[in-house]
Amino acid sequence: MNERTNMLRDDALKGQVIVITGGGTGLGLSMARTCLELGASVCITSRKKDVLDKAAAELERTTGGKVMAHACDVRKYLEVETMAKAVRERFGSVHGLVNNAAGNFISPTERLSSKAFEVIIDIVLMGSVNCTLAFGKEWIANREHGRSIVNIVTTYAWTGSGFVVPSACAKAGVLAMTRSLAVEWAKYGIRSNAIAPGPFPTKGAWSRLLPGELMERFDMTERVPLGRMGDHRELADLATYLLSGHSGYINGEVVTIDGGEWLKGAGQFNGLEAVEPDMWDAVEAMVRNVKGS
Ligand code: HXC
Ligand code: NAP
Repeated sequence: MNERTNMLRDDALKGQVIVITGGGTGLGLSMARTCLELGASVCITSRKKDVLDKAAAELERTTGGKVMAHACDVRKYLEVETMAKAVRERFGSVHGLVNNAAGNFISPTERLSSKAFEVIIDIVLMGSVNCTLAFGKEWIANREHGRSIVNIVTTYAWTGSGFVVPSACAKAGVLAMTRSLAVEWAKYGIRSNAIAPGPFPTKGAWSRLLPGELMERFDMTERVPLGRMGDHRELADLATYLLSGHSGYINGEVVTIDGGEWLKGAGQFNGLEAVEPDMWDAVEAMVRNVKGS
């Protein structure tokens, strides 16, 4: 894959304004870069203004696009409303929202305080709800059609997963919101879709999900049929496609981008990968020799 080429044409998002929560780091930053390369103006928002300012300066320098850095805690609706107003004042209108901000850490659930559970639900579920409400209400009131919401979830939004239970509950809620609003808000010209990434290396996720020696003990690539991690550009291509008019008939979908990871875990016989190729003749002979029921 050519590292430097985007999937969409260079002007695919020209004139669009995209808000990306958690846009100063990790996957949010990568999506912001691709949006800018495709001609959009971007607002990146998260809690840490210094991180956002640094990211915005680097993005503007490397892409030549317009980047607004606005500090906002997505858990706080008033801050989200202020952010939404500020983006509108700066750019006039907003065309796409990427609910990407998240909080997560691994822990046996019985070790969690109620507050620890709540903080993840607040960031992931309520943060996505708050931004969706703030922008959705404006779009509906102003009769602005052709808007796109892209929610970043995970594959355990539908399978569930031990040791990240608050995140699994919150992401399941975000997926339910995605599918619900895809129907309810379609009449306003607002599409809602989700992306479920598999493992994509980022400092934020890796330091909290695979700290220290866990990184070596749980080689994520072994879980992925394609035998590798995701490339940020692959996810950014998908996100920008879902934001753009090219995906105008896709609504209520969750697109998995995980190299086949979750299906490998789900299929009961996928573990037979461990059978050596030269054993299969003997296995076949045994099966063919079975007589009766
Ligand atoms: C148990 C913990 C804990 C831990 C915090 N808490 N860390 N409990 N184990 N490791 C508890 C605290 O003791 C406290 O409860 C409560 O959680 C709130 O903690 P604070 O530190 O006050 O919260 P805050 O400063 O708001 O920080 C939020 C955070 C932090 C989620 C804890 O990690 C953060 O800011 N994360 C943002 C970025 C992030 O998480 N990125 C990863 C996304 S990756 P008490 O009861 O003591 O008050 C992702 C990938 C999914 O989602 C899929 C991968 C394949
Ligand atoms: P990341 O770099 O840690 O991104 C999380 C972002 O959320 C940070 O920029 C953080 O910035 C922001 N954030 C956290 N709490 C916030 C709050 N209260 N208000 C506003 N912003 C807040 O991790 P990432 O790996 O790129 O994750 C991005 C998204 O992808 C998340 O939704 C995650 O669940 C999803 N995902 C990632 C993977 C993966 O393998 N990396 C897999 C599946 C899903 P501040 O700290 O400055 O607030």
